[in-house]
This record gives sequence, structure tokens and C-alpha cells, in this order.
Amino acid sequence: MPGPPPAGEPAPRDGSLPAGADHGLGRQAFGIYAHVPFCQTRCGYCDFNTYTAAELGGGASRASYAGQAIAEIGFARRVLGPDAPRAGTVFFGGGTPTLLPPAQLAQILRAIDSEFGLEPGCEVTVEANPETVDERSLAALRAAGVTRISLGMQSAAPHVLDRVHRPGRPAQCARWARAAGFEHVSLDLIYGTPGESDADWRGSLDAALSAGPDHISAYALIVEDGTRLAARIRRGELPAPDDDAMADRYLAADDLLAAAGLRWYEISNWAAGAGARCRHNLVYWGSGNWWGIGPGAHSHVGGTRWWNVRHPSAYAARVSAGDSPAQAREILTERERGTERILLLTRLAEGCPLTELDPAGRDAARLAVADGLAEPEAHRAGRVVLTRRGRLLADAVVRDLTG
Ligand SMILES: C[S@@+](CC[C@H](N)C(=O)[O-])C[C@H]1O[C@@H](n2cnc3c(N)ncnc32)[C@H](O)[C@@H]1O
Ligand code: SF4
Repeated sequence: MPGPPPAGEPAPRDGSLPAGADHGLGRQAFGIYAHVPFCQTRCGYCDFNTYTAAELGGGASRASYAGQAIAEIGFARRVLGPDAPRAGTVFFGGGTPTLLPPAQLAQILRAIDSEFGLEPGCEVTVEANPETVDERSLAALRAAGVTRISLGMQSAAPHVLDRVHRPGRPAQCARWARAAGFEHVSLDLIYGTPGESDADWRGSLDAALSAGPDHISAYALIVEDGTRLAARIRRGELPAPDDDAMADRYLAADDLLAAAGLRWYEISNWAAGAGARCRHNLVYWGSGNWWGIGPGAHSHVGGTRWWNVRHPSAYAARVSAGDSPAQAREILTERERGTERILLLTRLAEGCPLTELDPAGRDAARLAVADGLAEPEAHRAGRVVLTRRGRLLADAVVRDLTG
């Protein structure tokens, strides 16, 4: 979940990167993320950088978004220069990208193709709120070159979430997506919402699996400051999420999903085989390079991270003036990059090579094995791979590994 961005240092108006940041760019995985910051209504638990129509100010509208995104794509291409790599993955996230007509998403994808080029077999994902797609729009997205649909299902129990959703609709959309020719269909679920019972969660998992997805993301509910959910918990109208219930739900998900042939490959993500994993997220988790287009989007190239101004009006003003939409940036030290690699790799089923750790970290890895938090066999083969119990305590394990 995106928290408030770090303070960072000012980002140059021309978007230029520090010397050497583009070194070896063409040899590493490169993805493009497009953040579409619009939602019909705001769900009570969500603090993503997204706006309803009434919250959009001057210069920003759904209709003008594609033109601005395309302007930033051209800008990105100029900054990265002649060595700019082709995109191996493209991810339209939100917000609700499917509030834009498929033709506009197609236009943005074509602009990425003409500026950067798409690698053969490029993965192109669109996040979709099931209330905003239908048989026709899914077919249009497939025809436009989208290869993967990620549907926000969240829960099959209507009383569980403060969200406009019709139970049954996500599964129906997943079936339409399959019929439209999508090989890759993913569903997002959230567990541990106050008021959710074990049976509700099981019902959500069963409903998700009945739709035949090849990928499921299941997230523990985070109570984000400033949301309606946080206010209701503060007022005592709802209990705070319970850690034990969260752990039970996670294990129930892992059991049920594994029995259905979906194996975990990242703590919150399960896939039906290597080809069904989300390659775009693997770029993030593998500390690859990506350019994030759109309001509030984050980017990372060669150890420099930057993030765009959050409000669509401010973004529109920057991009229309030909300036970088970056609000600030930070240049990571070698040590910070190393810590981040350990943090991300340890969450993956492939695990973190012991060679990434310093001597204190390697001692911590041995202890994690002794405590049943890391797999002994993988450790003998030179990696830290979390056990099921280790996955429940991943944050603590990572803290120990990184000192
Ligand atoms: C930005 S949303 C995009 C999906 C789309 N807007 C929808 O809701 O259908 C990506 C995912 O983040 C997850 N998410 C959002 N708020 C969350 C929270 N407070 N705790 C855990 N997961 C959350 C949801 O599973 C959601 O599908
Ligand atoms: S539709 Fe998705 S992005 Fe929009 S408010 Fe709801 S969870 Fe957040």
C-alpha cells in the first residue's frame, strides 16, 4: 500500500537522472506502470491516490488523462535517451483504469509501443473493478493487446466491505475475460475485515476459485489513516483487525489455494505455474527498473527513485508545460539498495541468496532455520526461503536479516 511519499530531494525539472543511473539499462528487466487515478466512489478502506469526479480540479478530467499520459511517455523516452530499453511489462493500475474507455487505454499502449517498443510476449495487465467492465469492454481490451486482467473482487460477502459491489459479479467478469481470450486472469481478495467470519472468508476463496483464475492476490486488510474504516474503528463502531484471525485466514487461504493448484510465489500472491506469475510485480520485487506514468506514480531507474505530484491537476499543469511531473526523488546508497533487495527477495518463494547478507545477517538466517522460520534444505543450498510460519512473521525475519 502506498504510504505518504518520503520527503526526498528536489527532482530536476528536465527529469535528468544522476550520472550512471542508466548504466546497463538495456540489460535489465524494464516495465512501465500507468497510474489511472479515477474511481466512481471511494471504498471505505482505501487510501490509494485516486479521485472521484467531484474531487478533480481544473485541468484534470478522465477525458484529458490519455493525452497527458502520452505526453509523459514521450518525456520518459527523451530522458532515457537512445539506450532506452523496450518494455517487457506494462501495468495499468489505479484507481480504476477501466473507467477509461478501452480505446483510450489502447491509445496509451500504442504510445508506449511507438516510443519504447514492446518486447515480444510483453505482459500487459489492466486492473479492473468488476462494476466497470462487461463482456464487450473485456473483449475490446483483449483486442487492444492487453494480455492479463486483474479483477478487484475483495470479498464475496456483501456485509464485509464498505464498497459498492455485487456478489457474483467478479466471477462473472473472470468468465467473460476467459471467453474473450485472456489466458491470465487474476482476482484480488482482502481478508481480516472487522465483521468477517471464517466462513465468510472461506466463501470468498471458494467463489474466487470457482471463477477459474490462474492467479490470486490475497491481502491482509490494512487500516489506513484517514479512511472511513479508520474513523469507524477509532469511534469504537468496529473492532480493530485481530492478528490471530489474520494468521488463521492466511493459512486457510494457503491451504485452499494450494489444493486448487495455485502455489505461493510471493507472500500475498499465488499462481498456477511460473507462466501465471505477474511479471510486472516481479520487476518490482527483483529491484528492476520501471517508469511510473501518471499522478503520484513512483519510478525507479538504476538506484534513483522518484514520485510524481499526486493531484491530477498539478500533474496536468506540469506535463502540459513540458516539465517533469516528479515531485521529489531519492538516490539510494549501495547499502540502502542492498537492504531493499533483501526485504523484497525474502518475500519470494525463491528466497534471498545468503550472498546478499552480511555476517550478522547470515547468523540471523541460521537462527531463522533453527526457529522453524526458514527452510533448512534451501538454507543448505545457499538461500533464505520462508516456511509457512516464517511467512506469517516475515517482517520480523527481514528485520533480523538486515540488522
Ligand atoms: C488500487 S486497487 C485497484 C483495484 C480496483 N480499483 C478495485 O478496487 O477493484 C488494488 C488492490 O489493493 C487492495 N487494497 C486496497 N486497499 C487496501 C487495504 N486497505 N488493505 C489491503 N488491501 C487493500 C485491494 O485488494 C485492491 O484490489
Ligand atoms: S475502487 Fe479500488 S482504487 Fe478505487 S477506492 Fe475502491 S479499492 Fe480503492
